[in-house]
Amino acid sequence: MQLFIDSAETGLIKDLAATGLVDGVTTNPSLIAKSGRPIVEVIAEICRAVEGPVSAEVAATETAAMLEEGRRLAGIADNVVVKLPLTLDGLRATATFAAEGIATNVTLCFSPAQALLAAKAGATFVSPFVGRLDDIGEDGLLLLHEIRSIYDQYGFETSILAASLRNVAHVTGAALAGADAATIPPTTFAELVKHPLTDKGLDAFLKDWAGTGQSI
Ligand code: G3P
Repeated sequence: MQLFIDSAETGLIKDLAATGLVDGVTTNPSLIAKSGRPIVEVIAEICRAVEGPVSAEVAATETAAMLEEGRRLAGIADNVVVKLPLTLDGLRATATFAAEGIATNVTLCFSPAQALLAAKAGATFVSPFVGRLDDIGEDGLLLLHEIRSIYDQYGFETSILAASLRNVAHVTGAALAGADAATIPPTTFAELVKHPLTDKGLDAFLKDWAGTGQSI
């Protein structure tokens, strides 16, 4: 499973990219707003910091304007992926970009039916929002399993990019569901490596090793 960072905070992205474990980045209008910086400047900096796919979302809601904005975003760098909302206008723009060879990430996916349409439109990625479904008492991880089953049954090539992941269990669940990628907030990404028994075990190893008086 590829691991993406869900953020527009370039400092945090660079720190995590230095681990060698980051395969891409996703942003959205809310994350860009939170950064307080112009979208073109932020996306260009992220694209220099991370070689993999970097999702930049259009703000337009009608197909023609989406295409104009998407082409501007795609022109920022070769690894930009144009993010489009899962609406009929967004799907029309997705199909046009697919024909032009521009990579797309169809976002705000909350049902298997929506994911089916995204794949039929030729989306490069589809972003099912796990956490926001959990927020309303539904089973967000189940959606990932349903999409995986549909895509595998019909041989759709769209990659499942699990999104709206709020904790380590969500990331593990996305991997168990067979998601192709997961986009993870920096704070959650930093939690992935942690386990109290690892810390406890390492402390014990080092204490016992110190007692040997040896060095390697
Ligand atoms: O960026 C898309 C998605 O990851 C947003 O997550 O936590 O705002 O539901 P969240």
